[in-house]
Order: sequence, then C-alpha cells, then structure tokens
Amino acid sequence: MKEFTLITGASSGIGLEMTKLLAKEKRNLILVGRNKEQLEELAFILRRIHLIEIHPLVIDLSKIDSPKKIYDYTIEKKLNVVCLINNAGFGYTGEFLNSKIEEDFNMMQVNMNSLVLLTKFFLPSMKKVNFGEILNIASTASFQPGPYMSLYYATKAFVLSFSEGISVELKPHGIYVTAVCPGPTITEFANRANMDGSLLMKKGIAMSAESVAKISIDALKNRKVVKIAGIKNWILAFSIRFLPRIVVRETIKKLNHLRKI
Ligand SMILES: NC(=O)c1ccc[n+]([C@@H]2O[C@H](COP(=O)([O-])OP(=O)(O)OC[C@H]3O[C@@H](n4cnc5c(N)ncnc54)[C@H](OP(=O)(O)O)[C@@H]3O)[C@@H](O)[C@H]2O)c1
Repeated sequence: MKEFTLITGASSGIGLEMTKLLAKEKRNLILVGRNKEQLEELAFILRRIHLIEIHPLVIDLSKIDSPKKIYDYTIEKKLNVVCLINNAGFGYTGEFLNSKIEEDFNMMQVNMNSLVLLTKFFLPSMKKVNFGEILNIASTASFQPGPYMSLYYATKAFVLSFSEGISVELKPHGIYVTAVCPGPTITEFANRANMDGSLLMKKGIAMSAESVAKISIDALKNRKVVKIAGIKNWILAFSIRFLPRIVVRETIKKLNHLRKI
C-alpha cells in the first residue's frame, strides 16, 4: 500500500504552505478542506510539478461524521496514512454570551473533535507498522485564557494538552506527536475571526504563513513535542508563566477588545 500524508485545512494559509513543502518532499497527499476549487487546483498543479499522488477531499469537518468519512475513503482507496496533520481550525472574536450555539459547536467540532477522531482512526494502522507522525496545529492561545475569544483559546489549550499527553503514550510505538503553537500569522484566519484591524496582525508582528509552515514541518521531522513558532512568540509564551493569572487575563482582554475596534 502506498504511504500518504493527510492534511486538513490544506486549501489556505499555513495548511496550504505546508502542503507545498510536503509535495516538494515527494510525499503522496490527501488534502482536506471545503473549498473544492482551491483544493482541486492545488492538487492539479502539485501533481504536475512533483509527480506525486494527490487526493483532494472536499469535506466539512464541522459535521460529526466527517472524520469517519475520511477514514472510510482511505480504506476504500487503500491509502496508507503514515502522517496525519491536523491543521484545520478557526476562531471568532466577541462575547461568548452573544455567539450562536451552532458556531460554537462547529468550532469545537473542527478544532477539537475532528482532530481527536482522525487521530483515533489512523492510530491502529500506525501502531501495526511501529511508525507514524502526527502534527497538530495549536496556538500561542493554548497557553492562557482569552476573554472575547474564550472558546477559541480553550479549544487550542485542549489541542496542546491532548497532543502532549498522547506524545508520551505513543512514543514507545514509534509514533511521534508534535504540537506547533503559532502566534499571529498572516492568513485568512484574521479575516474569518473578525480580527482584521488587530495590532497583532500588523506586519512586523505577525509571521508569514510560509515561515510558520516551515517551522512546523521541521519540528515534526526533528521529533519536537511542542514548538512555539518564532522567538517573539516563544518569549511571550514563556514570560506568561511568571505573571499572576489575573494580569494575564486582563492583558488578553485588552488585546482582544482592540480587535473589535
Ligand atoms: N493565523 C493565525 O494567526 C493563527 C495563529 C495561531 C494558530 N492558528 C491555527 O492555524 C491553523 C490554520 O489556520 P490559518 O491561519 O492557516 O487560517 P486559514 O487561512 O483560515 O486556514 C484555515 C484552514 O482550515 C480549513 N477549515 C476551516 N473550517 C473548516 C471546516 N469546517 N471543514 C474543513 N476545513 C475547514 C480551511 O479550509 P476551507 O476554507 O477550504 O474549508 C482552511 O484551509 C488553524 O488551526 C488556526 O487555529 C492560526
């Protein structure tokens, strides 16, 4: 059976840039996202340049049965997934009191549940061959609560905690888990999260999707368990440990409030 890397959220931003890097390495790919046109065009171009096998899968990860559908597709087509990259995710700015319950549900489904279920589905075949790679995209939001983006920050705290936990359990089976924590990165994320005016997203602070993608793939290859993207983000995440939690909460509240202006 041919070996494949499966990447969610391959149609834009960090996922798109990671897809290009993986294609350069001649890895066969399964690309997951909702944007059919974008995924098919990307697959078409990368197949021609790199002569690899690519399966674009147009699937909405906010639907509960999507991870199972993806797994069933790989079984039906006999695609051996040895590397799983859980990158798809989104957030929004605003009061939790006012968010729509469907949006909250969808965010939890995409950012957490689909990541857990895809991991669950693909682990047994990795265990069988004593090898596997899992890369989960968390965030610097994983390290502290985020008033006015509370649910998003909480989903990313989940991703980091879950990844670190299973990394210990899976290492004896030759399965390596990496969680990457990007800070502000120039992608569609800010636009979708209603954060476009944010100071954090200005050039000079925000990183490019290309550099975050490179850091992520390198971290996976170097078997890092947790990788914070960029030295500024590392310093921020590290310094938060020494501040009282009330100071941290109030600072993030101000930053997330600014985003709404
Ligand atoms: N940009 C930042 O500042 C930043 C910072 C820290 C962490 N992150 C994390 O980085 C990851 C990638 O985000 P990005 O910044 O590259 O943003 P992006 O450009 O908006 O990309 C998000 C990707 O997720 C996919 N996605 C979203 N909802 C989906 C759904 N319901 N079903 C299937 N796919 C879905 C999108 O694909 P479709 O549109 O085709 O569905 C897209 O490919 C996310 O997990 C995000 O939380 C981003």
